[in-house]
Amino acid sequence: MKKLFILAFALGSFSWLSAADTAAGKAAYDVSCKKCHGADGTPVAAIAKMMKVEMRHLGDKAVQAKPDAELKKETVDGIGKMKAMPQVAKDADNIVAFMRTLKK
Ligand code: HEC
Repeated sequence: MKKLFILAFALGSFSWLSAADTAAGKAAYDVSCKKCHGADGTPVAAIAKMMKVEMRHLGDKAVQAKPDAELKKETVDGIGKMKAMPQVAKDADNIVAFMRTLKK
């Protein structure tokens, strides 16, 4: 247990050094995005069907080819049938950093 704590702490302080925090991004993603985009970016079929839209995996080449600024804008302002999510604005950089880890 103690070891786990130290590991978590070490990982936490490590990600603190980088500009964007992928761990915090994952936490925010799990709360706000997972229900539609799946834990690893795989679209939830029932959601795509309900919203009547083709959803791409967030790790797809076409999605990953977008610059950070664009992914950030889509995250906060929404895109197509996805509604704007102003509540994630403060975490947007971290969420984008997490989305980069989903690259296939
Ligand atoms: C209610 C379901 C829902 C939630 C919650 C949601 N999305 Fe989406 N998202 C969608 C749908 C549907 C699309 C496809 C929209 C379209 O093509 O019309 C989409 C598209 C996207 C795209 C563009 C992907 C592409 O194909 O280019 C990104 C990036 C994205 N979402 C990120 C996020 C992030 C980050 C979050 C959490 C902050 C989030 N979404 C939350 C439903 C959702």
